[in-house]
Amino acid sequence: MTRIFGKPLISQQEINRRIKDLGRRISEDYQDRDVVMIGVLKGAFAFFADLVRAIQVPVELDFLVVSSYQGSSKSTGRVKVISDLTVDIKGQDVIVVEDIVDSGLTLSFLKKKLLMRHPNSLRVCALLDKPERRTINVPIEYVGFTVPNKYVVGYGLDYQNRYRNLPYIAVLDQDGEQE
Ligand code: IMP
Ligand code: MG
Repeated sequence: MTRIFGKPLISQQEINRRIKDLGRRISEDYQDRDVVMIGVLKGAFAFFADLVRAIQVPVELDFLVVSSYQGSSKSTGRVKVISDLTVDIKGQDVIVVEDIVDSGLTLSFLKKKLLMRHPNSLRVCALLDKPERRTINVPIEYVGFTVPNKYVVGYGLDYQNRYRNLPYIAVLDQDGEQE
């Protein structure tokens, strides 16, 4: 049984509803095209699994494993690709699926890397957007929720690799404990 922590910032119900909207929008925007959805692991695993099932056009899936935080709650600004794509995205319509865009460093690094492979198009879908922390401008075409400048966990997001399995989004206080 999942231990229940404090009051969630974003409930399961809100997440589910928002994912249905995003799925509808993406299905409309990609009506006549196949789309390659790229999940950025580990953080995006839960969002990705729910999002792709809310999309009604043919979807090809792939994953990237990146690490930018090295187990702390502060960004080091360094992004490491631990595992790369297995599909060729040249000429494809690609959507990168992220858990959260914070400083924007991870996403802008990934976009640059993927654009060098010449996809037909490249868009971003992020469950959470924390715009107050942005240090580099990077457009996000599909956003689930805008969140305040607080460290959040759950629904894929971790603190020191824990809390990813919480079925909702919660806020961590500065001691690393949940509010
Ligand atoms: P950025 O490069 O600063 O935009 O951060 C990108 C990555 O850091 C995200 O994909 C997350 O994996 C992680 N991250 C940033 N903020 C949070 C947070 O509040 N909770 C959990 N992970 C976070
Ligand atoms: Mg991430």
